[in-house]
Amino acid sequence: MKLLTVIGARPQFVKAATVSRVLREIPEVSEILVHTGQHHDGNMSDIFFEQMDIPRPDYHLGVAGGGHGQMTGRMLEQLEILMLKENPDWVLVYGDTNSTLAGALAAVKLNLPLAHVEAGLRSYNLGMPEEVNRVMTDRVSKLLFCPTEQSVRNLEAEGFVTLGIEILKVGDVMFDATEFYRAKASEPAIPSDLDPGRPFILATIHRAENTDDDMRLKKIVKGLEQVHQQIPVLLSLHPRTRKKFSEMKIKPGFHTIDPVGYLEMLWLLERCNLVVTDSGGLQKEACFYRKGCITLRQETEWTELVETGVNRLVDVAAAEIFPAIKEMLNQDMNFETDLYGDGKASFRIVQRLLAQDNS
Ligand code: UD1
Ligand code: UDP
Repeated sequence: MKLLTVIGARPQFVKAATVSRVLREIPEVSEILVHTGQHHDGNMSDIFFEQMDIPRPDYHLGVAGGGHGQMTGRMLEQLEILMLKENPDWVLVYGDTNSTLAGALAAVKLNLPLAHVEAGLRSYNLGMPEEVNRVMTDRVSKLLFCPTEQSVRNLEAEGFVTLGIEILKVGDVMFDATEFYRAKASEPAIPSDLDPGRPFILATIHRAENTDDDMRLKKIVKGLEQVHQQIPVLLSLHPRTRKKFSEMKIKPGFHTIDPVGYLEMLWLLERCNLVVTDSGGLQKEACFYRKGCITLRQETEWTELVETGVNRLVDVAAAEIFPAIKEMLNQDMNFETDLYGDGKASFRIVQRLLAQDNS
């Protein structure tokens, strides 16, 4: 069986790592790995391949930057050529980035069976580029691998069952990854005046809705600066945010570091006291590490985290962020959940793909 996987952004390297590992154990399967190039800095791409032992991509398209349409279109053009050449039995895409959508469109236009990992997630906010990407990808897939109960319900509510698209709840591949790599966590270089043995807050910010809006971004910085007066904040600086800080001449009054590798991120997750983020993946990882999470967004796709009280959606105003953090740090939380499966999502995905019923 030949499978063509399309990845390109940081979260997709994490999601694809364990599936690819399982695929490699099966001699009759060959995985053609295509990296679109969407994320390309060493610490946004190569480091994940090295640390997570993901094979070197068979193709690297070198497409990054530009508008959404331009980026997706340039990927689509090259992916079509590759898919025609490789003629895979399945095309596999992950998550909700422009690389996901380009892979999905290229496959469906060629009538190649498409499988989507992390299907059924919804924010119900079509103003987010990710929501557009995931809705479109789900709709043109043959096989939808859902991580959670809620994601299955979302698809059912949209009538996917009547469309003849196969929906399988398999669990979350990011949970598989955390389980597999947890023991390999590795200490990053952190600012010398931050003591990781004492309480600190781990933060990441990169969403368009937070970084493209100058007022929102300023409020977030102000909020985190206020928090930092009481408990140190360490922000891993996504290149998009770094660029905005530089354009807006923002010099944050809290700790920042360049993006770290996955194993270093696990080390930080293990030691931090709370996570503040707008990342999709990190909201779940906080829970995997039994840490509360403040999500600086108006909605989340991972609604079950909010329902169980381990995640809180908070407005970006400083007056909101600080009290929410204080409250969460003093709150008892119940992390005893199996919301994201048993660490075997990747096996289930591969098992189903091998059954090869892609008619
Ligand atoms: C993308 C995804 C988002 C995901 C995020 C994960 C889309 C629409 N968005 O957002 O869903 O949560 O990745 O991190 O696909 N840049 C660099 N070097 C890099 C990568 C990015 O300099 O290695 C800079 C470039 O200026 C680029 C900007 O960051 O233009 C934004 O990158 P892009 O991939 O377009 O979007 P993200 O914000 O990373
Ligand atoms: N991550 C990382 N290093 C960092 C920041 C994040 O390894 O400096 C990991 C994080 O632990 C998670 C993934 O990147 O596994 C999430 O990616 P990101 O937040 O960029 O995207 P999203 O999940 O929001 O789509």
